[in-house]
Amino acid sequence: MKYIIGNWKANKNSADVIHWSDVFLKEYIFQENTTFIVCPPSPFLRYMQQAFKELKNVIVGAQTIASVEEGSYTGETTAKTLQGVAGFTIIGHSERRKHFHESDGDLASKVLLAKKYNIEPIYCVRDEKDPIPEGVTFVAYEPVAAIGTGQNEPPEQVLIMKKKMTLPKDCVFIYGGSVNETNSASYLATGEIDGFLIGKASLDAHQFLSIGRNG
Ligand code: PGA
Repeated sequence: MKYIIGNWKANKNSADVIHWSDVFLKEYIFQENTTFIVCPPSPFLRYMQQAFKELKNVIVGAQTIASVEEGSYTGETTAKTLQGVAGFTIIGHSERRKHFHESDGDLASKVLLAKKYNIEPIYCVRDEKDPIPEGVTFVAYEPVAAIGTGQNEPPEQVLIMKKKMTLPKDCVFIYGGSVNETNSASYLATGEIDGFLIGKASLDAHQFLSIGRNG
């Protein structure tokens, strides 16, 4: 299975989301070997889950979850509240590590909570030095220099890093960093990269879908 994961970050308003979903619904073609995971800002998760509920191999995911289970934590979105809405959650994106000072300990708690509430973590690492908590299956390697810069890391380089990492058994190995419809096929051609975490190019439904069709 190939996984095409869209990370919208803090982009789009309600009107944009309706438009994106309309285009996606119109252009989506089911492929047995391809799963699309769309991670919008959390207020739009429910809407998108409902919009895509008839589509096979399309799942919505969160961009992060709280490291606490429930209680007096104003503003947090927990795994418990997302149960049954998000099938996946990104955990440990480098932007969260940097801007929100998330530690390896916080991230390990998030993994446990996600699993407890049947949400599959997509665990992001910047290089081989970031530890991967137990229970993780989806590992997204995202070199910081490649994120949002247009400077995607070449596939050969990604495979060198993959060899250096201590990956879980039966790992689903995802690459992220300036992936677009032009460069995506070269990663899949290696046979060692199972999909992508896509920022900018996922903001356009047409581009996002064409990355899924390329491999
Ligand atoms: P990018 O973002 O595709 O815009 O480089 C990737 C990410 O941050 O997940």
